[in-house]
Amino acid sequence: MQPPSIIPTHVSIIMDGNGRWARQRGKERVYGHFEGVESVRAVMEASVDWGIRYVSFFAFSEENWGRPDSEVNTLMGLMLKAMVGELENFKEHGVHFRVLGNRSRLSDELNATIDMIDNETAGGDRLTMILLISYSGKWDIQQAARRMAAAGSDDIEPFLVTSGIPDPDLLIRTSGEQRLSNYMLWQLAYTEFVFTPTLWPDFRKEEYRAAIEEYALRDRRFGKVK
Ligand code: FPP
Repeated sequence: MQPPSIIPTHVSIIMDGNGRWARQRGKERVYGHFEGVESVRAVMEASVDWGIRYVSFFAFSEENWGRPDSEVNTLMGLMLKAMVGELENFKEHGVHFRVLGNRSRLSDELNATIDMIDNETAGGDRLTMILLISYSGKWDIQQAARRMAAAGSDDIEPFLVTSGIPDPDLLIRTSGEQRLSNYMLWQLAYTEFVFTPTLWPDFRKEEYRAAIEEYALRDRRFGKVK
């Protein structure tokens, strides 16, 4: 497959529709999450192939803690297993794997695994892949504001969990929903949004390429005239 005609620096994705995908097939919601991991891998590999430098995924929101315990536990277990399972793949592809979010709510086991994989892949210089777990945009701004005030600073950027990562050029949300759901409220100020009806487990390389081609047609002015 040809690379897209334009290569954004940072693509961020709100993965949505796993539950519906599973239900359409008469299966449990978790089956959709399992299949969703395959889409994450496809997007990660395509990003490396095309020279995209950052790809981030909204994997679990602060609000998602309100889902039934069984689904929360399954998702946490799935993410743990998926990241361990991908470790060699990350290394092979030059991917630095990071997790951002309210880490204090994650289990010790998950936190230790995240740190291990982050360290093991820190040399990956082709792609930084970021999973946002227990993340919400308002939480991020609040924690940053607190730390900024304590430091006597008036620049919030260095205190956001995404500090040092360029703001997303493109945000993709799957499954036809057209809202932000409390995601990266600060960082998306000038981001282009592409919404697709495709459910996340069906979002693979071809759909990814199509979303980037839609982005390529946009005229980004950053509030200025051209
Ligand atoms: C949205 O579908 C998806 C999620 C809440 C979880 C997505 C997480 C993954 C695929 C795990 C990725 C992890 C790694 C380490 C690769 P939904 O349940 O909101 O679907 P619905 O809107 O149809 O109910």
